[in-house]
Amino acid sequence: MSSNTLKTYTLKDLSEYDGSDSSKPILLGLNYNVYDVTSGSEHYSKGKSYSIFSGRDCTHNFAVSSINESDLPSIESDPIDLQTYSESQKNAALAWERRLSVKYGVVGRLVKAEQKAENACIDLGLESPHIAFTAPMKSLIEKLIVEAIANIRKDPK
Ligand code: HEM
Repeated sequence: MSSNTLKTYTLKDLSEYDGSDSSKPILLGLNYNVYDVTSGSEHYSKGKSYSIFSGRDCTHNFAVSSINESDLPSIESDPIDLQTYSESQKNAALAWERRLSVKYGVVGRLVKAEQKAENACIDLGLESPHIAFTAPMKSLIEKLIVEAIANIRKDPK
């Protein structure tokens, strides 16, 4: 596992947890945190008022108070960073985060696909505090993983 023990999710990883598979939890992304909102399935499961938020990074929508699916970032994009938002938009998103964090647990962090690749050597258990790769070996492994992710994105099959 990487520096903290929480799982890392790209927006694409997160989209697998949208409530369409009842054997998986429903997850919601907000401000780089991933919340398990399964216990709020009356809001988030398929057909419910806020199901569009399931499996997605909702940061932008909470900042601008939008419940439109078309305002959600693409699952191909990077997590939304509140730094570029106005104070009032930031506060709106953070108020939602306070509300949700009282009710639901954080189970992971949102990351860019590139960051995920950088952590992959550690996440895959290839590297540990006891076994470290030499720098050139590590950058080769990272390069191969980044390429593999890019290829999968180009041709998901
Ligand atoms: C006219 C506007 C709106 C009305 C009348 C409304 C109404 C409600 C109601 C009655 C609930 C259930 C509250 C509960 O069970 O605790 C709820 C939950 C929720 N609303 Fe809205 N809402 C509105 C707008 C919005 C907007 C703009 C957003 C986000 C951008 C939003 C996000 C949510 C979410 C995420 C929940 C579920 C919270 C949870 O997991 O406990 N709502 N809303």
